[in-house]
Amino acid sequence: MTTQNERYIPALGYHWLTSLYDPVVQLTTRESTFKPALIAQANLQAGERVLDLACGTATLTLLAKRAQPAAEVHGVDGDSNILKIAADKAQREGLTIQLQQGLANALPYADSHFDRAMSSLFFHHLTRETKRAAFAELHRVLKPNGELHVADWGQAHNSLMRVAFFGIQLLDGFVTTADNVRGLLPTLMLEAGFVDVCETERYSTVFGTMSLYRARKSA
Ligand SMILES: C[S@@+](CC[C@H](N)C(=O)[O-])C[C@H]1O[C@@H](n2cnc3c(N)ncnc32)[C@H](O)[C@@H]1O
Repeated sequence: MTTQNERYIPALGYHWLTSLYDPVVQLTTRESTFKPALIAQANLQAGERVLDLACGTATLTLLAKRAQPAAEVHGVDGDSNILKIAADKAQREGLTIQLQQGLANALPYADSHFDRAMSSLFFHHLTRETKRAAFAELHRVLKPNGELHVADWGQAHNSLMRVAFFGIQLLDGFVTTADNVRGLLPTLMLEAGFVDVCETERYSTVFGTMSLYRARKSA
């Protein structure tokens, strides 16, 4: 793992809460529904190189490896502590994934390196400027025709989901979450150069609407 001294937001806002991350997410986000759905959507193929951006404890990263053992699966995250939890989890599950410390706005990979990129529960932590930089970096590291698959809080699809999302806004901040609940993630993907951008699925959760998105880098 490399080290960097730049900024990232810990998974639950504070380092001392990170060890509680997996049970909290399991209980509150319908993780066991939307993460497998995102993996199914990505339709990973043997021999592909796959990136999970802001992989955290590597739940999605490990699902990807389990779904397609013949893919080379990478996880990157800004927090070296959460990457240790991820590495322990991978070892316990007997799965080989590549983990690296790095920031979304300066990904430590060459241009056109990955066939697929994925990310879950991440973009709502970023300012609009960093969201733009992160989508630009994802576009850079994907190969032509490479696909991006994202799960994150999306535009509330009814008033109950809008009220529920105030819980996330109180926890994670109103500024960084505003673009998500306004449904602007697809617009930001288009601005970064992605094509065929669409919202593919929506789930109701206790914290609001969880949306899945798909986008492609043109050939
Ligand atoms: C809410 S957690 C999501 C983790 C995982 N993707 C999941 O679905 O459970 C957000 C993650 O983003 C990471 N993170 C926050 N800001 C970052 C940045 N600028 N660059 C890279 N990682 C960052 C945090 O360390 C944390 O692991």
